Amino acid sequence: MLASPVQGQVWGLGRVAGAEYRDRWGGLVDLPPDFDDAAAARLCAVLAGGGLAGTGEDQVAIRDAGVLARRLARAPLPRELRPWTPGGTVLVTGGTGAIGGHVAGWLAGRHAPRVVLTSRSGPDSLGAAVLAADLATAGTAAEVIACDVAGRAEVASLLARIAATGPRLAGVMHAAGVLDDGLLDGMDAGRLASVMAAKAAGAAHLDELTRDADLEQFVLFSSAAATFGGAGQGNYAAANAFLDGLAQRRAALGERGLSVAWGPWAGGMAQASDAARDRLRRGPLVEMDPALAIRALGQALAGHDSLLAVMDVDWDQFGATASPFVRELPEVARTAREAGAAAGPDLGRQELTRRLAGLPRARQVQVLADLVRGGAAGVLGHASPEAIEADRAFGDLGFDSLTSLEMRQHLAAVTGLKLPATLLFDYPTPAALAEHLWAEAFTSGPGHLPVLDELDRLAALLASVGRGDEARSEITARLDAIAQEFRAGPEEGAAAGLELQAATNDEMFNLVEQELRDSEFD
Ligand SMILES: NC(=O)c1ccc[n+]([C@@H]2O[C@H](COP(=O)([O-])OP(=O)(O)OC[C@H]3O[C@@H](n4cnc5c(N)ncnc54)[C@H](OP(=O)(O)O)[C@@H]3O)[C@@H](O)[C@H]2O)c1
Repeated sequence: MLASPVQGQVWGLGRVAGAEYRDRWGGLVDLPPDFDDAAAARLCAVLAGGGLAGTGEDQVAIRDAGVLARRLARAPLPRELRPWTPGGTVLVTGGTGAIGGHVAGWLAGRHAPRVVLTSRSGPDSLGAAVLAADLATAGTAAEVIACDVAGRAEVASLLARIAATGPRLAGVMHAAGVLDDGLLDGMDAGRLASVMAAKAAGAAHLDELTRDADLEQFVLFSSAAATFGGAGQGNYAAANAFLDGLAQRRAALGERGLSVAWGPWAGGMAQASDAARDRLRRGPLVEMDPALAIRALGQALAGHDSLLAVMDVDWDQFGATASPFVRELPEVARTAREAGAAAGPDLGRQELTRRLAGLPRARQVQVLADLVRGGAAGVLGHASPEAIEADRAFGDLGFDSLTSLEMRQHLAAVTGLKLPATLLFDYPTPAALAEHLWAEAFTSGPGHLPVLDELDRLAALLASVGRGDEARSEITARLDAIAQEFRAGPEEGAAAGLELQAATNDEMFNLVEQELRDSEFD
């Protein structure tokens, strides 16, 4: 049984740490409460390579039965779809929000006798009066009440009011929530607490205060941020992970409990700010039509699952590098196969080396600058790299801490290079960054050849020889000879000899002259 939803918050936060610090990420290990010798041995095996390190697993629980790995799996539709018809009042926290309105409309369609919609603003919320009137027209009595769900006493008095006015409470839909996005670097206790308040504290109060209510449904509106760990949403992911854990604990105790981890809804809080909209556009989650999402909610309520994810996912974006958590899903497995299962993490580096091979240094830097500008345009949502000026500071181009992180991760993936978290601060323009990438690609790592540095220097020196310079033909002849010798290679001397036999007299004289000149140079 999942014993501690509070500790589940650490997993929500941990998954975000994994997304924000990919290069330092080891994984999450859930230890049993009784950490005996067997558990210690399993932990050692996991850390030594039997688990996390060796198998690529990054989320495991150590239990008596062995080491369990976290997996996302398809949920089949319930065999028998018995749509829920509420037998009493349904409380919708966050009922004046975007999703709350859809849920209330759906409840009216399911013939709920009464809905109570709450939020901190209550009746003052935009559109609340119209919503209540629409619900009444549809045959469902609706009341909009101000209640901060983070306050236990407020929730208790709300529940007392519902009980006093009837019909009895039959269901709870906890959709209250706020966002306060930011990278973990800037996350403090206050920002964690403010997001936890509505979601996690609210859920805990509702759980405790409705224990004896014999509810038909207890539904928590969780998020994909907790399922996958969204960069910049550490507090939100932790709060939603609490909801996921709470629903599972309730189910294990034989109480009704369902947490639905939603992907973004069209028109919901995921579009609340420009930054949130941009993040959504760049990510693998496609926003869902509310009508479809509500239909899925109805199907979920007709089954017995305690934790479901309802999302529209562009699985290709997970690609071959997907974590084991999703790797067994048919779509992800197919994408990974197509991308070439043999492709290791060095593929980016190999591909980059292939693209740059044979180009002069200036052209190589240009290719890298194009790569940087293309990546920056993608992250910032511009249609073309032309929008990114090579000498403009990233800050002026519109980068913030979250988009800087995304840019670093993008460049690390396409170049295969290990890049620091401070990349865009250390190299503050696309041009400076391209120079840095060039240096990283060519002056470090196992593929680096010092001779290439020397060739770059030689190329620069040659560029300084004027067109009419007398030494030009002599230099050209010398370069040709070096190239010919190099192409033949030491072990292919015999083949070079054969070529000599086939040379014309003029070629022979040139070669002899060349050799003589070479000895003068020496
Ligand atoms: N929309 C999405 O794409 C999406 C995706 C995944 C999960 N979810 C979850 O679904 C729920 C609803 O999302 P939404 O898009 O409808 O968000 P929304 O439009 O921002 O609505 C949130 C509602 O919660 C209320 N609220 C906030 N803090 C509260 C508190 N302390 N006590 C009581 N009410 C409070 C807000 O009203 P006041 O400010 O007046 O209190 C508002 O009515 C949220 O829990 C969200 O995390 C949404």
